[in-house]
Amino acid sequence: MDGNGRWAASRGLSRSAGHRQGAQAVRRTVEAAPELDISTLTLFAFSADNWQRPPSEVGSLMFLLQKYLDNESRRMVENGVRLNVIGRRDRLQPAIARAIARTEEATAEGTGLLLRVAIDYSARQAIAAASQLPPRQDADPAEDFVRRLDRVTHALAGTPAVDLVIRTSGEQRVSDFLLWESAYAEFLFLPVLWPDFDRHHLEAAVADFRGRNRRFGRLQALAS
Ligand code: FPP
Repeated sequence: MDGNGRWAASRGLSRSAGHRQGAQAVRRTVEAAPELDISTLTLFAFSADNWQRPPSEVGSLMFLLQKYLDNESRRMVENGVRLNVIGRRDRLQPAIARAIARTEEATAEGTGLLLRVAIDYSARQAIAAASQLPPRQDADPAEDFVRRLDRVTHALAGTPAVDLVIRTSGEQRVSDFLLWESAYAEFLFLPVLWPDFDRHHLEAAVADFRGRNRRFGRLQALAS
């Protein structure tokens, strides 16, 4: 969800105003996703490295996240959206951690869309932490690792691997996002700034993805 800051700067607005507009794009995208047959949507809202931004920006992002959860909880339930926040929770303010727990519980029966929001998330930190948990001796090593990774990130068990990563604002980096889970993901880098992202961008991204030839290391594409 890159580009909030640049969207705001180009209008002479504060970065917080850009993030607020970014939250509107989140709302639009969450509504559009199930209509495009997307069953899991993961949004990178706050990386572990984002703690290094000025305290005022961190504060406004946290405020926005909590407000989003509190304001959207009922709509998520009505629309069958299930929330799962991935990342660390021990560094979040207690009020935010409580809002996350409350919204996850309220939406737990949702089956229309699994909405994953990554907060205080770092794929490398998660991989390092998962590797320190004891493995199950009889299990398949990769499957067992995913179980441990899900545990340290609070991810729901059984969440499928990532199919498509969309990065906005012209940046072409992975930035510590779902490194294990996106091993065979398709990537799409779009020039649009996140606050301008809408249903048409998502629709075009899905169409682009459906036209890709995914071989997973084989010679032939898998039948979809
Ligand atoms: C990166 O762009 C964006 C973020 C670090 C914050 C993303 C947060 C939101 C969209 C708002 C709230 C989210 C939810 C789930 C309600 P940037 O700010 O670094 O933009 P820049 O690269 O133009 O400076």
